Amino acid sequence: PPSPLPLSPAGYFLSFWDYETPKVMVVKNRTLGVIYRSVQFLVITYFIWYVFISQKAYQESETRPESSVYTLMKGTAVHGDDILDTVEYARPSEGGDVISTILRREVTYDQSQGTCAEHFNVANANCTKDSDCVQGEVDFDGHGRRTGRCVQYYNHTFKTCEIQSWCPIEEYAVVREPALEEAINFTVFIRNSIHFPKFKVGNIKDASNKRDMQKYLNKCQYHEEKEPYCPNFRLGYIAHKARENFTELCRTGGVIGVFINWQCNLDIDPSNCKPTYAFRRLDLRKDQANSGYYYRFAKYYRKDGVESRTLIKAYGIRLDVIVHGHAGKFSPIPTIISTVTAMTSVGICTIICDWIMLTFIDKNEVYSDRKFDEVSKWHLQSPHPQKLLFPTEDTAPKTPHQ
Ligand SMILES: *[C@@H]1O[C@H](CO)[C@@H](O)[C@H](O)[C@H]1NC(C)=O
Ligand SMILES: *[C@@H]1O[C@H](CO)[C@@H](O)[C@H](O)[C@H]1NC(C)=O
Ligand SMILES: *[C@@H]1O[C@H](CO)[C@@H](O)[C@H](O)[C@H]1NC(C)=O
Ligand SMILES: *[C@@H]1O[C@H](CO)[C@@H](O)[C@H](O)[C@H]1NC(C)=O
Repeated sequence: PPSPLPLSPAGYFLSFWDYETPKVMVVKNRTLGVIYRSVQFLVITYFIWYVFISQKAYQESETRPESSVYTLMKGTAVHGDDILDTVEYARPSEGGDVISTILRREVTYDQSQGTCAEHFNVANANCTKDSDCVQGEVDFDGHGRRTGRCVQYYNHTFKTCEIQSWCPIEEYAVVREPALEEAINFTVFIRNSIHFPKFKVGNIKDASNKRDMQKYLNKCQYHEEKEPYCPNFRLGYIAHKARENFTELCRTGGVIGVFINWQCNLDIDPSNCKPTYAFRRLDLRKDQANSGYYYRFAKYYRKDGVESRTLIKAYGIRLDVIVHGHAGKFSPIPTIISTVTAMTSVGICTIICDWIMLTFIDKNEVYSDRKFDEVSKWHLQSPHPQKLLFPTEDTAPKTPHQ
């Protein structure tokens, strides 16, 4: 009989040209049988329920829709004797995928270019005499360029260095306004058009009755269960869904992400994609000192021929609209690939059970002797070829764990 394990390089080369084919061996062992069928059941269930039904592996999919977002803020607020409308509190006025609304303002009136006292918290700003202040020095944490004089800090008793800047400085002259509590009832209209180029479909439905649609869109208010297709969102609802306290947001401002997720199953209805909305605060957590959102802008005017401005530090809620999407449609190629993968994966059961059989159950090595088998011309020439397809003791190769 031939040597079972050729060890020389020539032997390796020769065994490379041997043909290996699996043989079916039936093991009459109840434990192994139960393990084998259970593993098989798990693998098949996984593929049917998870891969095919839940993950829709029979579909060709696209996850990057082209997206365009238009936003519009609505609502009015009473502020003292004034009425604030959307032009005053919404930024930018041309609503894109980022829109913010002012919740609280800190206003510095009547600033103009001139000289005045620097704020006392700026480094080296406290002084007692002119020589304490360096002329022409610019502190980047300060407000302007020093003139070299030491002056009284507005109507207080101590002195600071004088600067050339927009005067008076914000810290001294600022007027803090109360929060716009009405903003909780402002609404933001979010129109999101998407298009999946691979399937040439988008979400733009042509409404059968355009006027009714317009009326509906103007009046409705989004609610997860009651009005899932309405694109008007109350700011209070957004803050609530983002688990933020609106009173607290009015104080610090904040950035909230509006996540729109489109799920389009094009096998069911090619034009009906359902959006789901999620809201999450994006700036640093509220317990950290530097979280929040504010920006400054100014309104300019001329007073006695001098250019003046009203500086406004605006704390607001900023909405970042972030769009995700997934569209899937039946296609033969992914179906074939997934099916083949599923069928191949059933082979895992055999590998697992072989391993269990050879490692744990096969105490007296009966199975491993039977499992590895060599057939050569020498066997086939013998008078009982059928019988010799099963090896005798000396023809079986040694298994590694021996
Ligand atoms: C400057 O003086 C004021 C008033 O005496 C004081 O409150 C402030 O802390 C001083 N600033 C610095 C930077 O020391
Ligand atoms: C400075 O003037 C403002 C307004 O004119 C006043 O409210 C404030 O009490 C004055 N401060 C001092 C220290 O006098
Ligand atoms: C917001 O609207 C509700 C219902 O319309 C009203 O009860 C509530 O007082 C309003 N809140 C503010 C701050 O105006
Ligand atoms: C929101 O915050 C304010 C002030 O921090 C607090 O008075 C109020 O009870 C809070 N509201 C809720 C619903 O937690």
